[in-house]
Amino acid sequence: MRKFLIDTDTASDDAVAMCMALAHPDVDVVGFTVVAGNVPLDQAVQNALYTVELCGADTPVYAGAPAPMARDLQTAQEVHGEDGMGDIGLPLSGRTPAEGWGPQVIVDTIRANPGEVTLIAIGPLTNLAIALLWAPDIAEKVERVVIMGGTGEHGPGNITPTAEFNFWVDPEAVRVVLRSGMPLELVGWDVSIANAVVTEERRAEIRALGTAQANFSIDIQATLAQYAWEETRLAGPDFPDPIAMAHAIDPSPATSEFLAVDIAIGPDPMRGTMIVDHYGFAQGTPNATVVTRYPEDAFFGMLYELLG
Ligand code: RIB
Ligand code: CA
Repeated sequence: MRKFLIDTDTASDDAVAMCMALAHPDVDVVGFTVVAGNVPLDQAVQNALYTVELCGADTPVYAGAPAPMARDLQTAQEVHGEDGMGDIGLPLSGRTPAEGWGPQVIVDTIRANPGEVTLIAIGPLTNLAIALLWAPDIAEKVERVVIMGGTGEHGPGNITPTAEFNFWVDPEAVRVVLRSGMPLELVGWDVSIANAVVTEERRAEIRALGTAQANFSIDIQATLAQYAWEETRLAGPDFPDPIAMAHAIDPSPATSEFLAVDIAIGPDPMRGTMIVDHYGFAQGTPNATVVTRYPEDAFFGMLYELLG
């Protein structure tokens, strides 16, 4: 069994990624640490607790950072809904998270299981950065760090013309992570819009699976689907966190490059822009494996298996 520790700003695509990990027979999800991002922290905690319950699991959920390290929180409720889960009236309140604070749980879990933990971050990197500032030794004790974030080599932004949301919310945290020495694998929004778009046909195939998790995974995309039609003009809602989770579960189908990656810290329009130094102009040393492709059939094949 591989130990997964998943850091999430639980909204409608995060929840699908959580269902995938909880369903996989070879994966032991040791915990979910929650960070403010798509929705305020408390809502993200409640969404995570609801999702764990829906999956019939008892995996602990820990609250983490309620805001970015050095900026005000800006959520994406216009994208995922006020409650982050499509505003379809789910009872997303009244559940109690486990005792413990996200960054501390990240440090304790990695130190207690050196070389065995895959840390998966599918929200802003605030919890990871706080953990690293407090315990830099975890960088060489964690086995893999898979991050949904950034725009790959030349992808478009989804919150500004050049920045992806997770990297944009807390760019200072991203810089701490990029300089930490952690074994980073970045799955950007470019990969999601290329091969993780839930078209009408894919939606029907997921519905046909007939399980609670499959129907949940479609139902909660109500706001994201609307946003896709109107704003990103995709052929349906895309699944960035689920395809990043697919890479964490099985990286073999992926195409990737080990590149020198930095992040723009300043104000908009450059805030949160991922900077890839292909030719060493900035003398940057390669510090991250950037996934440039994850095949659509491999992703949806795994998704259907795990939701089914
Ligand atoms: O840019 C996409 C990312 O931002 C996903 O993780 C989504 O859940 C939001 O957090
Ligand atoms: Ca997310």
